[in-house]
Amino acid sequence: MSTPPFSIVSFSREHPKKGFCCGAEILDRYFAEHAGQDIKKKISKCFVAIDNEQLRVAGFYTLSAAQIPLTSLPELLAKKMPRYDAIPASKIGRLAIDKRYQGLGLGSVLIADALKKSSDASMGVYAVLVDAKDDNATAFYQHHGFIPCLGKPQTLFLPLGTIGKL
Ligand SMILES: CC(C)(COP(=O)(O)OP(=O)(O)OC[C@H]1O[C@@H](n2cnc3c(N)ncnc32)[C@H](O)[C@@H]1OP(=O)(O)O)[C@@H](O)C(=O)NCCC(=O)NCCS
Repeated sequence: MSTPPFSIVSFSREHPKKGFCCGAEILDRYFAEHAGQDIKKKISKCFVAIDNEQLRVAGFYTLSAAQIPLTSLPELLAKKMPRYDAIPASKIGRLAIDKRYQGLGLGSVLIADALKKSSDASMGVYAVLVDAKDDNATAFYQHHGFIPCLGKPQTLFLPLGTIGKL
């Protein structure tokens, strides 16, 4: 069996942290300096897409537990929910693809991976939540079906019931 070009695995010490460059310095710095600490403190998990040929990190995302206030859901959706203050969710805190690998579909693959992991979690998770860092990222998430929260257009969510569409 041949080795796949990319593998998605949990970020660990043996993965190179330096040299990752997605074009957003804040995300590059997070990956190099803070991702390991957040994992250690159980603030988030971090998953990396590895280029199996170059043995490089091609992309990463973080995943944490989260909540969506019921008041952030569009009215039609909120009406269908139980009368809780908030709905359980998981959150992609950060997502980035190294410039050398952008435009190859890896961003979509990492989102699909986050949806699958959230769906498989041994707890109730209604949707995956994201905080888009700018309009470009918002457009990227909307392209994948994410819905803006009421009054917070850069916070978006995707109900796991719609996972089949990806
Ligand atoms: C945004 C980012 C994650 C996209 O990753 P990518 O691997 O280059 O994107 P993909 O190749 O997976 O694109 C998948 C689809 O999204 C679309 N897409 C990509 N960027 C888009 C954008 N800014 N707006 C709308 N659609 C976009 C592509 O056209 C493609 O569409 P298709 O499948 O219908 O052909 C990547 O460019 C990146 O890391 N940018 C810097 C950091 C950043 O902005 N992170 C966002 C999270 S805050």
